[in-house]
Amino acid sequence: MFNDFSPEYLESFRYYFDIILKPFSRFALKAIEKIKPLDIAIICPGHGPIHKDNWKQIVDLTERESEAYVKLTADRSVKNVLITYVSAYGYTRLMAEQIADGMRETENINITLKDIETIPMGELESEIVISDAILVGSPTINQNTLLPVYKLFSLINPLRDKSKIAGAFGSYGWSGEAPRIIIDNLRNLKLKVFEDTAAMKFFPGDEKSLALKDYGKRFAAFVTAQCDDKSKNPGN
Ligand SMILES: Cc1cc2nc3c(=O)[nH]c(=O)nc-3n(C[C@H](O)[C@H](O)[C@H](O)COP(=O)(O)O)c2cc1C
Repeated sequence: MFNDFSPEYLESFRYYFDIILKPFSRFALKAIEKIKPLDIAIICPGHGPIHKDNWKQIVDLTERESEAYVKLTADRSVKNVLITYVSAYGYTRLMAEQIADGMRETENINITLKDIETIPMGELESEIVISDAILVGSPTINQNTLLPVYKLFSLINPLRDKSKIAGAFGSYGWSGEAPRIIIDNLRNLKLKVFEDTAAMKFFPGDEKSLALKDYGKRFAAFVTAQCDDKSKNPGN
């Protein structure tokens, strides 16, 4: 029950902070201010071990991590867009890069590109937590998307992520179902979807590059408009 019997605690703390507590950093800082005048002997949290000798170290760490997150998200004029994809032969990855190029033409959009197959799931969830919008790319394989995308769905927490914006794209050969399957799942997970998808047959060559950049620009415009609307009407 006590912290000295939990040597792996710090690792678990970081994971739990990144995926659960981070969005509540402002509340954590207020709570820390409240307990500062108290004469504390031990802390018995609702989850995890009882802190005896290490409680100050954990409270200080929570304060530092919360301050870092508050600082990162303080400038609401900058929108974080996560573009994450899976690509068997590289075409969907090329699409992701071209869409990102188009997005860069919009000011105040901060883009992070991640391959779902190579990023550890905990890191991917941390990226989801700090993003305002998530764009998911996948080829169509056997009229479906691929397992890593279903793993991504499992990381989305509608309670935490419901106000985020989402979209989908992907390369295909003939039927091209994957982007719509992704959009439908993200809608069911309560994200606000950009209904327009970018689907390209096989290789997104030069003539398709302009269309992908244009898609990136339109997605960025949608993100900007939705985020501005949200800051004017925070209840929506
Ligand atoms: C085993 C296999 C199954 C596929 N099934 C479909 C399919 O059902 N519908 C479709 O439109 N394309 C299908 N494709 C074609 C891929 O979607 C296409 O090759 C795509 O360009 C791959 O994108 P990537 O380079 O991002 O992996 C299939 C390809 C393979 C290898």
